Amino acid sequence: MNLCIIGTGYVGLVTGTILADLGNEVICVDNDSAKIDMLKDGQMPIYEPGLAEIVERNVEDCRLSFVTDIRFAVRHADMVFIAVGTPMAANGYADLSSVREVAEIVGRNLNRHKIVVNKSTVPVGTGDLVGEIIRANRNGARAEFEVVSNPEFLREGNAVYDSLNPDRVLIGAQSMDVAEQVADLYRPLDCPVMITDVRSAEMIKYASNAFLATKISFVNAVSCICEVAGADVVEVAKGMGLDKRIGPEFLQAGLGYGGSCFGKDTQCLLSTAQALGYEFDLLKAAIEVNDAQPKRFVEKMRQKLGGLSGKSVAVLGLAFKPNTDDLRDAKSLEIIADLLAGGSIVRAYDPIAAKNAQRVFPQVTYCKSGYEALEGVDAAVLVTEWEEIRSMDPARMRAMMARPMVFDGRNALCKEQMERFGFEYYGIGRATMAAEPEIALAKTKSTP
Ligand code: UGA
Repeated sequence: MNLCIIGTGYVGLVTGTILADLGNEVICVDNDSAKIDMLKDGQMPIYEPGLAEIVERNVEDCRLSFVTDIRFAVRHADMVFIAVGTPMAANGYADLSSVREVAEIVGRNLNRHKIVVNKSTVPVGTGDLVGEIIRANRNGARAEFEVVSNPEFLREGNAVYDSLNPDRVLIGAQSMDVAEQVADLYRPLDCPVMITDVRSAEMIKYASNAFLATKISFVNAVSCICEVAGADVVEVAKGMGLDKRIGPEFLQAGLGYGGSCFGKDTQCLLSTAQALGYEFDLLKAAIEVNDAQPKRFVEKMRQKLGGLSGKSVAVLGLAFKPNTDDLRDAKSLEIIADLLAGGSIVRAYDPIAAKNAQRVFPQVTYCKSGYEALEGVDAAVLVTEWEEIRSMDPARMRAMMARPMVFDGRNALCKEQMERFGFEYYGIGRATMAAEPEIALAKTKSTP
C-alpha cells in the first residue's frame, strides 16, 4: 500500500516508520525543511528509544522516504494520514489551522480515490469538517474519498513499543469496506481492532486522555488527605490498584501530569463540552487539582526549609517524564520558576533535557550528574523519576549535600532507606517517621 503521512512530529514520524516496517511504502512529509534534511541525514528530530534503528532499516530498504513536497506525496498515495499538530488555542479549544490547511491541499490534489486518515488529536466533528474542506477544494475533479478517524494512543518515550504493541487499534469510518482497508494495515500487529463511527472514535481519544488525567488527579487529591491523616498514598494506591476494576496504572501520586497531551486535551474536551452545552465540572476539578500540585509542593519546601530565599536547591530531573527530552508542560518549569521567584539558587540535572531547559532558565547551573547537582545544597527536589536518579546511592548523595533534605515529587525514592541514611525525607502524600507537626491526627481520629 502507498501511504503518505503528513507531519513528522511524534505521532507522524513513529506511525510512518512503523507502517513502513510492516511492509508499506511510506512517504513522510513535513513543511519544516530543516527537519526533513535531518531525517534524510539519519538524525532524529526527537528523542525516542529504538526509533533511529527502525528508520534507518526502512530507508535502506526503500520503504520509507522523507520529502517536503506535499503535493507529490498526496498524489502518489492511496491513503493519506493527517498527523499534524493541534495545539491549544487561546480559548482552550484545539487550533485546527494545520488540519484545515492540509485538508485543502488534499482536496486540490485528489487525483484518484483516496482514504484520508485522521491521526491528529481532533475534537469530535473534525472528520466532517475535513470532508467538507476536501470537497470544497476538489476544483471540479470528481475523485471520491472517505475520511477515517484513527486516533493514536502511543506514549512519548515508549512510542516504538506502544506502536508495535497497542492495547487496541481504533478505526472510525462511514463504510465497513474502508474501515477494513485501514484495519488491514495493522493486522500484522495481532491486536484488538475496534471499528466504530467517526465521531465516536474522535470522542474515545479525548475521553481516554481525560480519564487517565482524572485518575492521576484523583490519587493526587487522595494524597492531600493522606498527608493530613498520616496515611501513605503509595500504600493506598497499591491497595486500590489490586482491585482489577481499578488497576494499578496511572495511580502514581506526584507533582501532577505534564507533557504535550493531557493538559491540552483536557482543556479542549472542557471547551468542546461547554460549546455543546454541558459543564464538565468533574474534569474542571481534575485540572484544578493538577494545577495545585506543584504549588503545594513548593509551599511545603518553603515551610520545611524555613523560607526559600538564599537557599541552594538541586532539581533532579527536568523532562515532563522519564525517557524523553520533552519539556512541554513539565512540572520542573513551574518548580524552578517558583524557587527562583522565592530567591533560591538552583542547580539542576537531567540525563537529556538540560539543553532545552537552559533556553528557558539560563540562570540555573546545569550539572553533569545528579551528584554534582547536589554539591553543597540545602535540599534536593526530585521532579522526574529517571531510573538513573531513582537509583542514586543515598550515602554518596548525603556526602555531597550541606543539609540532607530531600523532597521527592514522584515518590520514587525508598522513604525508609532515605531516612535510615539520615535524610529528612518529604514525599507526596506520605507520612514520615518523624511525626510532622501539621499532622492533625488526633483531631481526625476524634471526628466521627
Ligand atoms: C499520553 C497518553 O498516555 C497516551 O496514550 C496518548 O497517546 C498521549 O498522551 C497523546 O495523546 O499523544 P504521554 O503524554 O506521552 O501520553 O505520557 P504519559 O505516560 O501518559 O504521562 C503523562 C503525564 O502523567 C506525565 O507527566 C507523567 O509523569 C504523569 N503521570 C503518569 C503521573 O503523574 N502519574 C501516573 O501514575 C502516570
